[in-house]
Amino acid sequence: MIWNASKPKYSSYSSPPPQPKYSAVKKIPFTSQTFPLYLAPMAGVTDKVFRQICKRFGADVVVTEFVSAEGIFRRNQRTREYLDFSAAERPLGVQLFGANATHMAEAARQVIDWVAPDFIDLNFGCPVNKVVAKNGGSALLKDCACLASVTRAVVRAAAPLPVTAKIRIGWDATSINAVSVSKILQECGVAALAVHGRTRGQGYSGEADWHVIGEVAQSISLPVIGNGDLFSAQDVARRRAETSIAGAMIGRAAMSAPWIFQQIKAYLTSGELLPGPSLEIRWQIIVDHCIAQVETWGAEDPAMRAMRSRLMAYSRNMPEAKALREKLQHVCAIDDVRRVAYEHLARNSVPAFAA
Ligand SMILES: Cc1cc2nc3c(=O)[nH]c(=O)nc-3n(C[C@H](O)[C@H](O)[C@H](O)COP(=O)(O)O)c2cc1C
Repeated sequence: MIWNASKPKYSSYSSPPPQPKYSAVKKIPFTSQTFPLYLAPMAGVTDKVFRQICKRFGADVVVTEFVSAEGIFRRNQRTREYLDFSAAERPLGVQLFGANATHMAEAARQVIDWVAPDFIDLNFGCPVNKVVAKNGGSALLKDCACLASVTRAVVRAAAPLPVTAKIRIGWDATSINAVSVSKILQECGVAALAVHGRTRGQGYSGEADWHVIGEVAQSISLPVIGNGDLFSAQDVARRRAETSIAGAMIGRAAMSAPWIFQQIKAYLTSGELLPGPSLEIRWQIIVDHCIAQVETWGAEDPAMRAMRSRLMAYSRNMPEAKALREKLQHVCAIDDVRRVAYEHLARNSVPAFAA
């Protein structure tokens, strides 16, 4: 089987020499690069297996899916899975959400004792009703006093480990307050700030407002990581040129193309536009992902059912994407995916597979 190799064959990228630009960055165990690329935290997507794939393709910093402070206290199986990571993923942050400063500080302490991440990240951007109903995530953008008390408490509890934060630009279009929020966060001792250029009201619709991200980067001395609608290497280069962001965070684009990190790095370093991997290699990456997922879950059927949405994302930029999606949404086994791959490669005339 050509795609049983454990590592993607896609060429590896060598990092530029370390030249830390911000003093705060030195305190954070980033990979001393001038422009780190983050894999955005995405619940249900950026689990251990996917983070490792992105890491292999050049993501510099990864963050866990968000975990509630209460989840940490319960320490159930779910929470264990959220917090599980391997040394290869470092530097890694554990993302926490919650609105109770005492609980959040205690949760941070427990996480540090338990799994020793490289930093704690505070989620002030989640738009989901269930979270904002309890005053968590982006709800704190409307309650700056609470946001400040949570941040101060966690910074104190986590010290000397750095604490970072991720925000949206405001609650809605009438209350865009990312600049004032970022000043509060800086004042409270946050070491770096990721800004998703949408309001909570936008959800994932409309466009990320990079003007506001640029204003935030101008207004504070912390490294600001720009996030929102970065779908290509050129997108990142353009936003980097237009703003004084210190790094970029990639979310949805990585779901369908985890190799994007390599492409961004090549483009930023040499202006070279790397083509995406061949169809054959893409299928190899996909099947490898399935194998790793099944190994992690220890049971093929539920692991593959959970993989279906991930397979949809991978198929997005492939030929015959619609027909592929229809097939992939019914897979229950790795061999089902292999079968789809063989047929797809044969139809799309890869010589080794054409009849
Ligand atoms: C499925 C999904 C889950 C997400 N889960 C989280 C999360 O747990 N924590 C968080 O801070 N942001 C979360 N986000 C937001 C992303 O981190 C990111 O800010 C957003 O997708 C915009 O970046 P993009 O345009 O590169 O996708 C999630 C986004 C998606 C699509």
